[in-house]
Amino acid sequence: MAFAHAGTPMAVEHAKGLNRRWRHWLQNPFDLFAPYIKPGMKVMDFGCGGGFALQALHRLTGEFGEVWAVDCQQGMLNIAQQTYNAANIEFSLYEEGKGIGCEVYQESVDFAVAFYVIHEVGDVTQVMKDITAALRPGGQLLLIEFWFDRRIPEYLEAATQLGMQVQDGPKVFLSKSFLLCKAAEGDAE
Ligand SMILES: C[S@@+](CC[C@H](N)C(=O)[O-])C[C@H]1O[C@@H](n2cnc3c(N)ncnc32)[C@H](O)[C@@H]1O
Repeated sequence: MAFAHAGTPMAVEHAKGLNRRWRHWLQNPFDLFAPYIKPGMKVMDFGCGGGFALQALHRLTGEFGEVWAVDCQQGMLNIAQQTYNAANIEFSLYEEGKGIGCEVYQESVDFAVAFYVIHEVGDVTQVMKDITAALRPGGQLLLIEFWFDRRIPEYLEAATQLGMQVQDGPKVFLSKSFLLCKAAEGDAE
């Protein structure tokens, strides 16, 4: 799997490499996300790439749920759409600093995942701000990064600065994961 760097998103031609069968066995997205998603939820796959997680997210949210696949590259969104599509999956292009989606999408997401994405973004603080703004109060972000990423404390600090509570996430092969929770309405400041 090619490893891209901050400010340089993975090249679209590598997208299919992310969707290999072995990865589904070793990092089964259905098993990973099942504890956090209930039918009817709205979930966001931030940096969806070639759509590795989409089928699992769609199955878990069910026919009354919504899946929102977001990426900064239209080429990735095109591949994701070919990989898996359904009526209640929406694909959106995101540009750093411009917010995710339109205003009605703010504070609407129950659960978001950023799987091997944050190490590629240019401005971690801005991106975490935009993801947090899209989460509803009490919403959660599952952040998964390669185990050897030395910048993980920086990502967690950006989230903490935005008032997110950080917990350890599930075990993920070759990775570290964290569950970031946005304060619910009425939580003590
Ligand atoms: C290594 S791929 C991971 C894709 C997918 N999450 C997966 O696990 O297979 C990283 C993805 O994040 C996207 N990305 C990088 N920077 C981004 C940004 N600032 N905003 C949104 N997506 C971004 C890239 O275009 C790429 O599709």
